[in-house]
Amino acid sequence: MRFNLQSRLGLGSLCASVFSFLCGDQGHVSYHSALPPSYPLAVRNPYLSTWMPSDRVKQLPYAEPQFWAGQELGWSVLVRVDGQTYSLMGVPDPGTNNIRPATVHHAEYTATHSLFHLTAGPAEVTLDFLSPVSPSNYLRQSLPFSKPSSWFLINSFKLIYELAGYLTVHVSESQGQNIQIYSDIDGRWTGQDEGSARDFEEKAGLAIYSLTVPNATTYAEIDDMALWGQVVFTSRPSDLSNLSALSGSPDVVRGLFAKKGKLSSQEGLWAPGSVVGLAHELGQVTGGASVNFVVGYEREAAINYLGKAYTGYYRAGYPTTPEALSFFMEDYGNALLESLKLDQELVGSATAAAGPKYADIVALSTRQAYGGIDVTIPNESLETDNVLAFIKELSSDGNVNTIDVIMPAFPIYYVLDPDYIRLLLEPVMKYLAADRWHLPYAIHDIGFHYPHAIGHDNQKAEPMPIEESGNLLILALAYVRATGDISWAAQYIQIFQKYADYLVDNSINIANQLSSNDAAGPLPNETNLAIKAAVGLKAFGELSGMDYYSQVGEQHADLLFEQGLGTDDDKTHFVLQYPDLPETWKAPYNLYPDVLLKLKTFPEAAYQMGSEFFSSSRGEYGVPLDNRQDWAKSDWNMWLAGTFETSTRDEFVDDLWAFMTNGKHTWPFSDRYVATSALGNEPGVPVLCRARPTVGGHFALLALEGPRSIRSLFEPEYLPGAVNKQGQKLQHVFDNHIEEL
Ligand SMILES: *[C@@H]1O[C@H](CO)[C@@H](O)[C@H](O)[C@H]1NC(C)=O
Ligand SMILES: *[C@@H]1O[C@H](CO)[C@@H](O)[C@H](O)[C@H]1NC(C)=O
Ligand SMILES: *[C@@H]1O[C@H](CO)[C@@H](O)[C@H](O)[C@H]1NC(C)=O
Ligand SMILES: *[C@@H]1O[C@H](CO)[C@@H](O)[C@H](O)[C@H]1NC(C)=O
Repeated sequence: MRFNLQSRLGLGSLCASVFSFLCGDQGHVSYHSALPPSYPLAVRNPYLSTWMPSDRVKQLPYAEPQFWAGQELGWSVLVRVDGQTYSLMGVPDPGTNNIRPATVHHAEYTATHSLFHLTAGPAEVTLDFLSPVSPSNYLRQSLPFSKPSSWFLINSFKLIYELAGYLTVHVSESQGQNIQIYSDIDGRWTGQDEGSARDFEEKAGLAIYSLTVPNATTYAEIDDMALWGQVVFTSRPSDLSNLSALSGSPDVVRGLFAKKGKLSSQEGLWAPGSVVGLAHELGQVTGGASVNFVVGYEREAAINYLGKAYTGYYRAGYPTTPEALSFFMEDYGNALLESLKLDQELVGSATAAAGPKYADIVALSTRQAYGGIDVTIPNESLETDNVLAFIKELSSDGNVNTIDVIMPAFPIYYVLDPDYIRLLLEPVMKYLAADRWHLPYAIHDIGFHYPHAIGHDNQKAEPMPIEESGNLLILALAYVRATGDISWAAQYIQIFQKYADYLVDNSINIANQLSSNDAAGPLPNETNLAIKAAVGLKAFGELSGMDYYSQVGEQHADLLFEQGLGTDDDKTHFVLQYPDLPETWKAPYNLYPDVLLKLKTFPEAAYQMGSEFFSSSRGEYGVPLDNRQDWAKSDWNMWLAGTFETSTRDEFVDDLWAFMTNGKHTWPFSDRYVATSALGNEPGVPVLCRARPTVGGHFALLALEGPRSIRSLFEPEYLPGAVNKQGQKLQHVFDNHIEEL
């Protein structure tokens, strides 16, 4: 964490004057190291996803955050300095109760933190929003609160935290001022303020507010927000501070804090617009002091997997919400340390891999990528040897564990923790192994809408035969290569082989069908799908040791490239569709796994032609998906960039960074945007997609450094254990299973 702070005391005293209304937007705000479209505040799972649009940052004292889908949420932070209260965030009308707006100076994000620095009269204050990303620690990642935590083992199994996020309010350079700090959230966090209920308990040393919709049915959503479960907001007194709590109308609760610097325990009426507030009295502070608040979203029944309730992994260790929250609070020091290491290592590695702009891109992508995921165990048994991870296809249709969402995202898992590939595929593989899916190709997803992972017994999942069959084979090999774990894939070898056989028969003369980019419509003979199939066949050959599949993959590649079925006559590029459409093109991003896994299905020359061709196909913000579209997919473009030589790769990074930082849009990172004005549309603005976990694909360039490349840095004793990282064959791995076939 770095702050380029100038002393703004002069401006601070102006802001404390009658001209204070000018200060919110007159201060100069610096952005480090880049201006993102939106800052993640508490982003831990599909239902705890709270963001601050960047165009609100200059007005932070007045600004309310948003749920990822755009709903406004109430979250305020106040500081009281020698009896004068300042709004730091989220008070739309700070004029009432003699609350003055603080002045914003600096905003910054890292992979796990969003930081805002303000001046409140004589006090310097930092708001630090931490959503720990701790992929190797299943307990920390599955706690649905936002705050960092430590390595923690249960039954010698790693645990995670997806439950919550932390807000740390830090006061610095105080000269003996009398300081109190306050924060509140409101009923809108439940998804249905009208009819919501508030509860308060003091347990495990914490003051805990919970907000619920009492009449909600389990698993019910409203506009992508969860109606079931509970929002939790908590803090705890420390040696240095006394904690008080109050709920009711914001005017009354904030007004009492402004007047007294503490709250009373006389809970007010709960009505739409009400808030739950917590206040810390720090007393006289010399130097610095900080307090933590935790905000989370807890669902006991988190996922409906084939009719059975699955719950957060953390419940194995902390069966009740107060226990989990208490651990989360206690764990702050560890979580902070680990998050700082991750942030630092990620910046270092990403900069070394593809420059500082690339580091900005992956840092903004990290919380969003993991924020689409829940890591769960069966609610009844809480067995930790039955872990399933679920991912939501945010902002398109809400499908559960879409294979072509896991696929674009997989580079981030490959880098930070490849176990996620297995955990996310396992719910699908179990379903396929139960023989409930009868079509000859792989299924698209495990449920029509989150959190209902109930399969498609009616066989009506969105059909993407070659897309998903190829994806599954490639993901399985990526997992084996990155972890060295051969037993998981071995148990499903017959299923994988069925899809490999499907590709052998159907992936050159390709029937009219969709690819992952379903917005572009179906096509017969789409070259990029044929490429995926060839790479998928080679991947299965490597996985199974059955050379036949490798040979077919290579033959298909030869037909597409050397024999020119999938290229123009001069071999300048792969065509969108074959045969005989030499002017068309589409980003052949499916070559990326061939490079990453060193499969050599295609020769070097097949990648080299792309380096030249795509350098000359750039719009204002880079290369669109294909010759028919003006929009680009950021994830696929980073994949494609991973197949290029450095100069073209850098152009792709520059273009994505230019889109990310152009200040024209304020959604959570969009992976789909207008790249060129060629069709008359405004370039550099997002299209439909926001907050999608597919931004994990931005890690494609870092993944080329090898699996677990970050983790090895923060676990120095860890040796990258990847079996056959250099690409040796794994032909003996499945010998026993092959004999049975
Ligand atoms: C729950 O109550 C609220 C307000 O009382 C009402 O608007 C909503 O329709 C109710 N929902 C259900 C599922 O009954
Ligand atoms: C906390 O409350 C106790 C008891 O009322 C009081 O003695 C102490 O000074 C308070 N501490 C602060 C930091 O306000
Ligand atoms: C989850 O498990 C707990 C403890 O066994 C049980 O009380 C609760 O009813 C279960 N919830 C669901 C939705 O199955
Ligand atoms: C697809 O390509 C194959 C192989 O070149 C060709 O035989 C077939 O006619 C093509 N299909 C369409 C619809 O163009």
